Amino acid sequence: MVRPSDSGAWLQNRSVLVFDGTGDVFDYAVKKWQEISGTAIRDKGRFTVALSGGATPVNLYRQLAGCSSYPWDKTHIFLVDERFVPFDHPESNYRMLRNTLLSNVGIAEGNVHPIPADAENSEAAAREYERDLKRLFSLTAGQFPGFDLILLGIGEDGHTASLFPGTSSLAENKRLAVAVRSEAVAYERISITFPVINSGENVVFLATGRNKATVVKKILAEKNSSLPAGRVQPASGALLFLLDKDSGAHLAGSELRSRIA
Ligand code: 6PG
Repeated sequence: MVRPSDSGAWLQNRSVLVFDGTGDVFDYAVKKWQEISGTAIRDKGRFTVALSGGATPVNLYRQLAGCSSYPWDKTHIFLVDERFVPFDHPESNYRMLRNTLLSNVGIAEGNVHPIPADAENSEAAAREYERDLKRLFSLTAGQFPGFDLILLGIGEDGHTASLFPGTSSLAENKRLAVAVRSEAVAYERISITFPVINSGENVVFLATGRNKATVVKKILAEKNSSLPAGRVQPASGALLFLLDKDSGAHLAGSELRSRIA
């Protein structure tokens, strides 16, 4: 049973739902995925989704793998970011996604779009990924893909995807994907950019656990737009934060109900 707490509030195109149990967050995320994909497939004949790495969404991917009779043949899966490591490396986001979801649902290879971490270097990987995006979304120069759903996580330092504080990736406004080097992490990264994220039709943040409470407060209550995750504001799409009571612990009902500037 999904039970959003009373502090859930709909604000313009942003909504924040705080759930009592962590499991409720994932149940709701599955429901949201089914609702968004159902609409996309009905209206456009396919569903395009960009998925986050990290530890938080692992349970969501496992749960999705258990959904019977889901139309995987009409679903195109991208990643929001990747570590520049081999596909079988323990830190590979693709590996995590393959183990939790892809290899359990029999999705066709042509429907999965990993970030090519086997390219010569991270910059070449970003360029190649950009070409894949342009091809699938039939984009011309200057256009950005309108993903039906973009799933994001939040780092304790406020990063999202692999857009880290203090890196030049934050200022990127033309490219679809970039290579990112940050002292904060061990491996080079490849990440989709803000213009891609903010062109999404539905952008969903998943954050659970007490260690995310401070950063969540900075983004939602203090509206700190200097943090990368605070700069996610879809132009016309919907923005949804799915939190458990631990990550949402520092949010007061009144703060949630205030409007975003
Ligand atoms: C990654 C990410 C990254 C992640 C956050 C939160 O590849 O690591 O996409 O942005 O979502 O770092 O990570 P956790 O879910 O592990 O806390």
